[in-house]
Amino acid sequence: MARSTIVRDLNSQLLLDIWALLFWSMIGMNDSGKGKVALVTGVTGQDGAYLSEFLLAKGYTVHGIKRRSSSFNTARIEHLYQDPHETNQRFILHYGDMTDSTNVIRIVQQVQPDEVYNLAAQSHVQVSFETAEYTANADALGPLRLLEAIRLLGLTEKTRFYQASTSELFGMVRTVPQNEDTPFYPRSPYGVAKLYAYWIVVNYREAYGMHASNGILFNHESPLRGETFVTRKITRGVAAIHHGYQQKLYLGNLDAKRDWGHAREYVRGMWQMLQQDQPDDYVLATGETTRVRDFVEQAFRNITVELDWIGHGISEKGVCKRTGRTFVEVDARYFRPTEVDLLVGDASKARNRFGWTHHTKWQELCDEMVQEDLILVSKEHR
Ligand code: NAP
Ligand code: GDD
Repeated sequence: MARSTIVRDLNSQLLLDIWALLFWSMIGMNDSGKGKVALVTGVTGQDGAYLSEFLLAKGYTVHGIKRRSSSFNTARIEHLYQDPHETNQRFILHYGDMTDSTNVIRIVQQVQPDEVYNLAAQSHVQVSFETAEYTANADALGPLRLLEAIRLLGLTEKTRFYQASTSELFGMVRTVPQNEDTPFYPRSPYGVAKLYAYWIVVNYREAYGMHASNGILFNHESPLRGETFVTRKITRGVAAIHHGYQQKLYLGNLDAKRDWGHAREYVRGMWQMLQQDQPDDYVLATGETTRVRDFVEQAFRNITVELDWIGHGISEKGVCKRTGRTFVEVDARYFRPTEVDLLVGDASKARNRFGWTHHTKWQELCDEMVQEDLILVSKEHR
């Protein structure tokens, strides 16, 4: 290995150790969750990482379920990692998969959680059209397996349950904005699987008196967002174009509208739902809707490019106003067989019940993501 590579690796390790030290010393600062045990599925995902940080900072012991993978899938929670040989370990990982009932039951039995946050899912809408059966298995039957584990193990009185429900349930929207009373009309195998999950949570709450709640969350993003979701694809693309590693960005439907908030703020809402005396279902959203093309324009402003749109449909292009260079093209492979055109949520129930609100505007979110990706992309190519 080249000397420069070794030095760089040592530096990154040192930075990681310092960050971990700071994190673990800071989390002693708030111990309102001290003594409580949480089980987080999907711990390696965007929300899993933010939620684990949040719960650890509250004093919880956090058990996370991660899938076995042939390559590393723990990058987002690296800074939380604790050596299993340490005493008083508060962040513990278990191998598991939502499609494996025996595994799910064994982990719930071992952990005896006070709170379960079910975040694990095949969460990509477009991918769900290609992997519909698997998506149903993980996203619909997965939550059923967890609820059954809690029930069979006699934990219904002790364990509170959070289900990661989604604004995709509203699909072809029946009202604008959407709230807890808006009828559902899912538009993808993902949405349909999540519909089953939503109702099985309601059913177990009513049938067995379980403290089980649905968080109907609208899109939330961050620098930790998966790279194939549109916001992150855009911000990474802009960073790669700026550094000269990519020529253009190829996108699908530029006119879809989404209600984009910051993931860090949404995990607080998940926790708040489980702190209520009664279980219930809540929308979390910003109340503002934005077109994909507006997000693209904002992202390019970070590298001082103002875009003009020319042409229509599949031939539409985003070009630099100053130089005429084409930066964005439409690629039909990113169109979906059935699309969700417009999402905008009304989170007044969560605001009135427990004071949840968002703080970050979508423009700030976009700028933060581009700035982080500018650093990341340049590091990757060093
Ligand atoms: P994400 O980044 O895609 O993370 C999904 C997590 O689930 C990952 O840890 C993934 O593991 C894990 N997972 C996938 N299939 C699994 C399986 N069969 N068994 C066990 N684990 C599995 O998603 P996210 O953005 O954090 O979203 C968290 C949850 O909220 C998801 O259920 C999503 O559907 C829902 N949701 C998200 C949004 C949003 O805007 N982000 C909005 C509403 C609802 P790997 O790391 O190994 O892939
Ligand atoms: N992914 C992607 N890639 N989407 C694109 C692209 C592209 O190149 N071009 C345009 N889009 C459009 C999609 O058609 C969609 O209308 C919109 O951008 C947002 O797509 P995603 O970022 O993939 O998110 P999503 O809204 O489909 O789903 C996300 O939010 C849901 C909550 O509403 C996921 O996080 C789901 O798990 C979540 O439930």
